[in-house]
Amino acid sequence: MSNQPLHPVAIAPSLLAADFARLADECADVARGGADFLHVDVMDGHFVPNLTLGAPIVASLAKAASLPLDCHLMVEEPDHLLEDFAKAGAKWLSVHVEACRHLHRTIQRIRALGMRPGVALNPHTPFAAIEPILPDVDFVLVMSVNPGFGGQTFIPHTLEKVRAIDAWRRNHASALAIQIDGGMTTATIGQARQAGVDWFVAGSAVFGQADRGAAIADLRRAAG
Ligand code: DX5
Ligand code: ZN
Repeated sequence: MSNQPLHPVAIAPSLLAADFARLADECADVARGGADFLHVDVMDGHFVPNLTLGAPIVASLAKAASLPLDCHLMVEEPDHLLEDFAKAGAKWLSVHVEACRHLHRTIQRIRALGMRPGVALNPHTPFAAIEPILPDVDFVLVMSVNPGFGGQTFIPHTLEKVRAIDAWRRNHASALAIQIDGGMTTATIGQARQAGVDWFVAGSAVFGQADRGAAIADLRRAAG
């Protein structure tokens, strides 16, 4: 790689692939296994064709789990939920550029509520759609599958956006983190790291394995 990585590798297992009847145990398992964050997928059945969980479950998770909660809101116009997620204990909160009519205001509110704001973008959304908001966010979540479901196949062209975001942050001396979400496995994580990703969400590649600690170690090794 021509540029040295800006941040160490962070692994965020996505609870979407966990056993929802045993969430506290599943969180403890990946914490023991060396995860850095817990990724919580919040889906509204409208922005994406699936429903998952909301702030009450996040509040219980925050009490039970030792890892910081990284909540990914796949929710149309999420402003009415932001305070609930702050009170529930979310530390990092991403919203979709495609779902927010007044993205700048939404991002400012997330920060004012004491959370670290991130902007997420779908595979088909161009870099230009998020460029104006980059000075105001702490991380970008690049969707490398179409959001809504776990276990889908990685879309390689999304790495072109990762390269554009990495170039932007280097040009602007920004500490912005780049998160990737969808289809991360030991076969795909290396190319994502090479493109500039710091923070890797992995659902099935962690919770789909019997030994979560080994799965996380394998992903770290493959990231290089
Ligand atoms: C998809 C979610 C992802 C999902 C990733 O909409 O945002 O976080 O859980 O699952 P895998 O890692 O199985 O592709
Ligand atoms: Zn996600």
